[in-house]
Amino acid sequence: MKKNFFPYLSVLLVFLIAFSCQSKKEDDGGKKEWWKEAVVYQVYPRSFKDSDGDGIGDLKGIISKLDYIKSLGVDAIWLNPIYSSPNDDNGYDVSDYRNIMKDFGTMQDFDNMLKGMHDRGLKLVMDLVVNHSSDEHEWFKQSRSSRTNPYRDYYHWWNAERGKPAYRYSLFDINHDAWKYDSLTNAYYLHYFSRKQPDLNWENPQVRKEVYDIMKFWLDKGIDGFRLDAFQFAAKDTSFPAFPEGFEKNFIEYYAMGPHLHDYLQEMNGEVLSKYNAMSVAEGAGNTFEDAHNLVDADRHELNMAYAFEGVDIAKREGYSVLHFKEVFSKWDSVFAKNGWLSVFLANHDQARMVSRFGNDSPAFRAVSAKMLTTFILSMRGTPYWYNGDELGMTNAGFDKIEDYKDMPTLNEYEHQKAIGGDLQKFMLDIQFSCRDNGRTPFQWDSTAQAGFTTGAPWISVNPNYTTINERAQEDDPASCLNYFRKMVALRKANKTLVYGQYTLIDRNNPNVYAYTREWKGNKLLVLLNFKAEPATFDTGLDLSKAKLLISNYSNAIPAGILQPYEAVIIQL
Ligand code: GLC
Repeated sequence: MKKNFFPYLSVLLVFLIAFSCQSKKEDDGGKKEWWKEAVVYQVYPRSFKDSDGDGIGDLKGIISKLDYIKSLGVDAIWLNPIYSSPNDDNGYDVSDYRNIMKDFGTMQDFDNMLKGMHDRGLKLVMDLVVNHSSDEHEWFKQSRSSRTNPYRDYYHWWNAERGKPAYRYSLFDINHDAWKYDSLTNAYYLHYFSRKQPDLNWENPQVRKEVYDIMKFWLDKGIDGFRLDAFQFAAKDTSFPAFPEGFEKNFIEYYAMGPHLHDYLQEMNGEVLSKYNAMSVAEGAGNTFEDAHNLVDADRHELNMAYAFEGVDIAKREGYSVLHFKEVFSKWDSVFAKNGWLSVFLANHDQARMVSRFGNDSPAFRAVSAKMLTTFILSMRGTPYWYNGDELGMTNAGFDKIEDYKDMPTLNEYEHQKAIGGDLQKFMLDIQFSCRDNGRTPFQWDSTAQAGFTTGAPWISVNPNYTTINERAQEDDPASCLNYFRKMVALRKANKTLVYGQYTLIDRNNPNVYAYTREWKGNKLLVLLNFKAEPATFDTGLDLSKAKLLISNYSNAIPAGILQPYEAVIIQL
């Protein structure tokens, strides 16, 4: 009997394997999930809307704009940190993870905000900043107080009698030194970011438990997920071996994906994320595609998705190559075509404005190039993360005086350059183009004083172009960036091919035009994007005679072999 049974079993097995490969192939990216189909809208609370005239955006301000956010058609809101913080790094230095920053309001405001979101069908994703805390967090105060304090091992300390520890590069420190000497206990503590952001010791199981409890606190309130800030740096080799000279030029290679990082994420997933079915996204995707897969592949039980920086790093002050842009985005897509899931974005609170870096912010091309970039982000596979204000085509403010900048690492680097006799003129030109403060100027609501953001003096200057670029003006204009964004979101929501469809780059060597198809369940779409300020030819080799235009930032006609400056179309084949 047994002997005869085996061939049937193997046939069944082959059939099962073939079937599972087939279903994977159809639903590229694996199982369908709400967070794959979602458009995530990022709100930078400090700059979104001020309700009380102190010049700082707040939760009541966000509440007053929830109908606006809903009107965009997006599904989820990612909020930058709103926890108590002395604000060395605008909230990325948390002093109490279970409280709301005074500038932003109260826990009651938070509860009202969350209810307001859920009432409108919007989900909330919070920033989880646990590679480091603030030096004003109670844990650190205890930790630094004595070598024997029970909180000592919550952070990384190196006793000075052992000599100076091996050099670690700090991204934000004025001297770039990540070890800060503290005379109180004659020891150094580690801070990859600023001195006021000491790194937590993830090797300590007590720290991990504290973090999981914090996550549960917010999930029990009903939030829908977390963005894990700088988490790829959390695990460290605590023997702190020396790194090769000059490692800081490539520090991610040395800092990311330390020992046990995946163990911690699997633990976090088992203890918290899976229990609440919470969505999770990591800032950073490691050094290799393998690292990224290890973070996000479903069978790893770690995170849902990550965001990689290679795309946003393409833009340079001197310009960028469209061929390079296409190559990078195509590469990341193809590596995740079958397994894993990524996010797509061209801006966030750590970047200057999308249209100023990747499009063209001159008056002639600002709107049309912003719409072209909108078409790109919302027609790629991966979850789009949209940064507030980009739907208006907000531009870099490009302040020319250092006094106008507020960003701590930028100000520290300015002082550093001054101290080493660096080229300050070049530094200023660089930050006008790339400083993250460009993305943090107040949201431009209308043409009244301070762009309708505040009745007081804003914490950072409003971009003077608010008199023409603002939400109020764009609401009434059917051809505005804002209304184009809404149309594009609606198109993505109505057309799952834009979410799950297989991506194929075409007209590969075209140096001006980015062309690709998206294909799913017999439906095929063609996306054509001219990335240049001049007309550009294209050759798709496809029959467009029966094609239907789904969206265009120019007219209702399907372009015949030539695209206007920054023209973008999506065509149903
Ligand atoms: C992340 C945040 C950034 C912050 C840094 C330190 O990169 O996105 O804004 O300054 O971590 O927390």
